Amino acid sequence: ADAPLIVRVEATKPGPRIDRDVFGQFAEHLGTGIYGGIWVGKASAIPNVRGIRSDVVRALRALKVPNVRWPGGCFADEYHWRDGIGPQTKRTVTVNANWGGVPEPNSFGTEEYMDFLGQIGAEAYVSVNVGSGTVEESSRWLEYMTTDQPTTLAKERAANGHPAPYKVKYLGLGNENWGCGGAMSPDHYVEQMKLFSHFSRNGNPAQKTTDQMKRIAVGWDADKGDYTEAVMKAWASKAWSWDIEGVSLHSYSVGGWPPRMASTGFGEDDYARLLKETRGMDDLIVKQSAIMDRYDPGKKIALVVDEWGAWLAPTPGSNPGFLQQQNSLRDAILAAINLNIFMRHADRVRVANIAQMINVLQAMILTDGPKMVLTPTYHVYRMYLPFQDATYVPLAYSSATYTHGTISMPQVDAVAARDTGGQLWVSATNVDPNRPAEIVLDVAGASVSQGSGQVLTAPRVDSVNSFAAPDTVAPAPITATQTAKGLRIVLPPKSVAVLALR
Ligand code: AHR
Repeated sequence: ADAPLIVRVEATKPGPRIDRDVFGQFAEHLGTGIYGGIWVGKASAIPNVRGIRSDVVRALRALKVPNVRWPGGCFADEYHWRDGIGPQTKRTVTVNANWGGVPEPNSFGTEEYMDFLGQIGAEAYVSVNVGSGTVEESSRWLEYMTTDQPTTLAKERAANGHPAPYKVKYLGLGNENWGCGGAMSPDHYVEQMKLFSHFSRNGNPAQKTTDQMKRIAVGWDADKGDYTEAVMKAWASKAWSWDIEGVSLHSYSVGGWPPRMASTGFGEDDYARLLKETRGMDDLIVKQSAIMDRYDPGKKIALVVDEWGAWLAPTPGSNPGFLQQQNSLRDAILAAINLNIFMRHADRVRVANIAQMINVLQAMILTDGPKMVLTPTYHVYRMYLPFQDATYVPLAYSSATYTHGTISMPQVDAVAARDTGGQLWVSATNVDPNRPAEIVLDVAGASVSQGSGQVLTAPRVDSVNSFAAPDTVAPAPITATQTAKGLRIVLPPKSVAVLALR
């Protein structure tokens, strides 16, 4: 048997705060992500509150979702907010040109989004249309959502059911404007972005001081840093009139473009390949942070990883434009690895949004008509709740290697943190699908004698939860035992565990 992996937990050397917004979600008008997944309409036989399905709301409330990015994605740069306000029967029907060319009924607009956020207890991350919209349109949308002054738009908002201003915590200044957002050169984007930053004013008085809206500029494309460079350079020499508080990074784990890795029925080759690729997120963050550090050594500007996750081949028989895929134990492990990377970079990565919340790409929840199932990724997010707003605790360890063919990577990936109540937590992932991993936690500076929590594993790397078998991948209890060297935990093959240390 392998010697146990000794993990030194530096409990007296607290690191940065892990912003809860790193556990954010992304809900785009795409396939059945919104229509069917969230919005069923008031007349639906599916139980709902004001048209928003109640089973999904219940499941998401349990995740304490901090923020939801909306309405896109590529959709955002073709979205016109006026199409989605006012009486349902008068909404404009448009075409969702990016995603399947299907009709977009605009039944889910600003009011419905804000209602959804209220029902699940999340905050708003709204992306404005820089690609095909105007500065005026964006500025008026912000006024409509946030002003407390008795303007015509505020009165219209009140007539639509919401007299009080909405809070917009994050404002996305476009989306992938190097691609679907208008194929702009970095310099052209920067000039546009400055106008949107300046004129999209937040009028909510409650947000004027400590709780200001944060504006996110478009940054790094998965393999190019030129947008980040241009945006940061402009920011460092900016005049008084505009500002940003974040720059985005998008990176999916795909296994080659176009996506063709199956989301079910795969073996260890695809498993190892995708996990190896996903570990590259660390490298991208290091590279983008290095650009940002040159202009912003004080780390004022957040790195916002507002699209990430597994992008796999569409579920056979589904509309390929709907980006539907199943979600397996592999996705759960992939999620844990990425969340761990974000936490290790908590000083710079302060927002992240997995793509996407429901029925699209690496989803939390799958629905089909009235049916709903929680995915393995959902369970990881639930197990990781203690890390929201926790204080990062450094770990020192040197993991054994998991090797499959020519692919190799550390077998164990672990992080630790102290939650807001002072409780110490550790998360450890064993990526090896064939061997357990024995680890011993040597906790420095805290008296710890017990560990207990949950472990997520399943019979196979491609095990999934289906409507017929919803609990194939579900958390089970796990405990640590005290030994002379520290707390001993045995991680099953291909598992994610989160334990409280007492
Ligand atoms: O999440 C799906 C799409 O991926 C988004 O709309 C776009 O921003 C990205 O390319």
